[in-house]
Amino acid sequence: MTEAKYRSIFSPSSAQQRKENFDDYWVFTQQHSGELLEDDRDLMVKRAKLTYFQNNPVKLRTPLANPDAFYRNYVEMHDKPESLDKMTLMLTGMYKFARHEWVGIKGAWDVTPNMENCKNLEDKISRIHLAEEFCHVRLFDEILKTCGLDNVEWVPLSPWKEKMYEQFPKFPGVLIDTPAFVTELMGVTFYFHLYQLFDEMFADEPEVLERLKALLDEITIDEIAHVGQRRNFIGTIGIKVAKKLVKPFYTMFFNDIPEVAYLFDVKKMIHDGEIFDFNAVPDDMIAKSWVPSYCLT
Ligand SMILES: [Fe+2]
Ligand SMILES: [Fe+2]
Repeated sequence: MTEAKYRSIFSPSSAQQRKENFDDYWVFTQQHSGELLEDDRDLMVKRAKLTYFQNNPVKLRTPLANPDAFYRNYVEMHDKPESLDKMTLMLTGMYKFARHEWVGIKGAWDVTPNMENCKNLEDKISRIHLAEEFCHVRLFDEILKTCGLDNVEWVPLSPWKEKMYEQFPKFPGVLIDTPAFVTELMGVTFYFHLYQLFDEMFADEPEVLERLKALLDEITIDEIAHVGQRRNFIGTIGIKVAKKLVKPFYTMFFNDIPEVAYLFDVKKMIHDGEIFDFNAVPDDMIAKSWVPSYCLT
C-alpha cells in the first residue's frame, strides 16, 4: 500500500498556521481564477475557460429521450420520482443542487463587501470565492446545454427561503464558518459521486462524457480548494463540531432533493465526508487546486 500523502481535513491547526495558509491561499486564488470582474460577478481565467467550452460545443449523438420530463420536474418535482428515467432524475437532481448553491451565493454577494471595501485578506478571499461560485452556475448551465437543455432558467426559491439565505452571511463568523465549511465539503462529495454517475449514464456518448467531466472538473477543482480554504477559518473546537455536523447536514440537505435517494448512496456520501483527506483526489486535480499545509503529511 502506498503511504497516505494527506491528513484528514479535520486535522488540528494553530492560529499561526492558519494565518500563513490564508497568505498562501491568496497567492493561489489570484493565479487560479484571474482578475475579478466585479460588475459581472466573474473572473478572467474562468471566463476564458467557459468561453472555450461555449465556442467548441459537444452535443449528444442521440438526443435525450424525454426532455419534457426534465422541464416539468427540474424546478419542483411534479411527477412521482420512481416514474422517471435515471437520466432525467440525474439532470433534475443536479440542477436542484446547483440551484441551492446559486441562491446561497446570490444572497451573500449582496451583503458582503466588494473588493474595494474589503477590510482584510479574509474578506478578499471570500469575495473571489463567491465569484468562483457564480462561475460554477455558468458551468452547470453549460453541462445542461451539452445535454441539449437550452431553456433552463435559474429560478429563485420561495421569498421566505430567499430571505433566509440572505440573512445567513450576516451572522458572525463564529456561527457561519463551520456550516459554510461543511457545505463546501458536501459539494466535493456530491461532485465525486456525480462524476461516477456520468460514467454510467453517458457510456454510449464518449464525446459528451469527456466534455461533461471536463466541465465538472472545473467546478470540483475549485471546490477542493474551497474545502481547504473554509477549513482554514475554523479553530480547534469548531473543527470538532464540523465533523459532527457532516451527518445531520448532508442528511437534511439531500432529503430536500427528492432525486438524490434514487441516484446516490447517501450513507456512503456521509462516510466520504467524515473521512475526507484529499488522498482520493487525483494528482492532476490536486496540482491545480489547493491543500492547507496542516493537511500534508
Ligand atoms: Fe461551487
Ligand atoms: Fe465552493
